[in-house]
Amino acid sequence: MSSNIVLIGFMGSGKSTVGRILAGKCGKYFLDTDSLIESVVSMKIRDFFEKHGEAEFRQREKELAAWLGSNVSNAVISTGGGMPTVVEDLGSIGKVVYLKIEFDSLLERLKAEEFEKRPLFQNVEFARKIFDSRVPLYEKHAQVTLDALKSPEELALLISQGF
Ligand code: S3P
Repeated sequence: MSSNIVLIGFMGSGKSTVGRILAGKCGKYFLDTDSLIESVVSMKIRDFFEKHGEAEFRQREKELAAWLGSNVSNAVISTGGGMPTVVEDLGSIGKVVYLKIEFDSLLERLKAEEFEKRPLFQNVEFARKIFDSRVPLYEKHAQVTLDALKSPEELALLISQGF
């Protein structure tokens, strides 16, 4: 067993914040799929979308998921919000934890600069449509679902204690 924990959820649900705290608590490595892709393409996600388009980005996510599944253990992995749309079996990478949040709560929570770095969040109505289409996918992949409105510390504690 890989002993990885894979955090999934929509943009802004707190995956990276929770993941960092959780990794510290459990003595695991913290990995963020967006940062890993940025390092391999030497470009910010936003620029990559602009230059190469979403389909190419999804291909990178797919390749990365395969690599993580074969090479990584003992890590907390925060995934980009769209990864469950292209990866069939996130459970083969590790235990999948879904940080669930309502769309309107997200809007209240995201700051302006966070909208800017996310290419799919440039238009709120468009983002809402994506959100609605994603929820069933997150639910399908989730082995555990937690309320993302709890504090990051509480979420990390719950996950580290095995929920
Ligand atoms: C995306 C989410 C982003 C990033 C990219 C696409 C999505 O990650 O991978 O902008 O399709 O939901 P975060 O969920 O970390 O913001």
